Amino acid sequence: MQVYLDNAATTPIDPEVIEVMLATMQNDFGNPSSIHSHGRQVKTIVEKARKTIANLLHASPSEIFFTSGGTEADNMAIVRSIQDLGITHAITSPIEHHAVLHTLEEQQKQGKINLDLLRLDEKGSIDLTHLEELLAQNPRTFVSIMHANNEIGNITDLHKVSAICQKYNAVLHSDTVQTMGHYPHNLSELKINFITGAGHKFHGPKGVGFLYINGDTKIKPLIYGGAQERNMRGGTENVYGIAGIAKALEIAYRDMEAHHNYIQGLKTYMIDELKKAIPDVQFNGDINPSNSLYTVLNVSLPCTDMSDMLLFNLDISGISASGGSACSSGSAIGSHVLQGLKSDPDRPSVRFSFSKLNTKEEIDHVVTKLKEICESTF
Ligand SMILES: Cc1ncc(COP(=O)(O)O)c(C=O)c1O
Repeated sequence: MQVYLDNAATTPIDPEVIEVMLATMQNDFGNPSSIHSHGRQVKTIVEKARKTIANLLHASPSEIFFTSGGTEADNMAIVRSIQDLGITHAITSPIEHHAVLHTLEEQQKQGKINLDLLRLDEKGSIDLTHLEELLAQNPRTFVSIMHANNEIGNITDLHKVSAICQKYNAVLHSDTVQTMGHYPHNLSELKINFITGAGHKFHGPKGVGFLYINGDTKIKPLIYGGAQERNMRGGTENVYGIAGIAKALEIAYRDMEAHHNYIQGLKTYMIDELKKAIPDVQFNGDINPSNSLYTVLNVSLPCTDMSDMLLFNLDISGISASGGSACSSGSAIGSHVLQGLKSDPDRPSVRFSFSKLNTKEEIDHVVTKLKEICESTF
């Protein structure tokens, strides 16, 4: 049995998305910047996709900018805010994705900002009183706090973060890559300068994403070139990807509630079955459904000789999951997120992440294999 439980890394493309992309590839090859009919036809596809995404997010189409994915969108928001909005101080959390953390660290290295990292509690939740303390001491700060963590699944309440940032006139960016298409984002109700999305995290294509830039936030491009994306991102558009990401987000919103309930059911089932099979199992992060991404479960296991090689053993059993941290004796480099959480280095961790395509039978198979791995000793 082959089981794919690494959907926070990437998801399979939905057949309905493939259909739209194929039709675009077959029929619409023009360059959207060309003024003739072939170009105009394709320009219409790009603009229709932008409108679809904007409508779903309750934003204006003029606030959506297509990018090559989540990393570029995060980079654009961070680098250009620092450059263009008079930012000299930034605040983020130690458990951000590297697309945010490394970008901010580089800006600090170049002497452009001072960077503060927020305190976390033992479950990895961000201490918002620390955010307020730091903002009170520093005017005109750039704040970047992810909506949900890709390794442990913890969700941060963006409305609370936004209220604090507004009080201190801070610029707010949130990496929403893991919640886009899984939770509704209503930008008419949330005051935020930037959020990001990546198609491949919600059954769309890889290599395409977008940055929402609030209409009142004026930054320059990260990538210079032609006049594409209303002069905000040079380069011929990834037309097939753009058609695909819009379709994927449309499907995600259409089926969101049903998928949320179904996938949360799988996650809860896996938690319960793991507790029965491996009494000493623990979970990294907050697993309370109201604070935790329903697609992610980070499992911490009692260390045995073999669990050191946990991911390898899962892989040879046909199970694809993703690394948390290896045992302290192992060779894998530990995760910065689990280190930020101060999780027990003597227990190996593995991240399972679910999609609408997973089944209880697959969970049963994985739990059985994990039990075998944990009980085996050499
Ligand atoms: C939270 C988060 N941010 C950013 C990214 C990067 O997105 P992309 O792979 O589209 O560049 C990812 C992907 O792993 C992610 O999980």
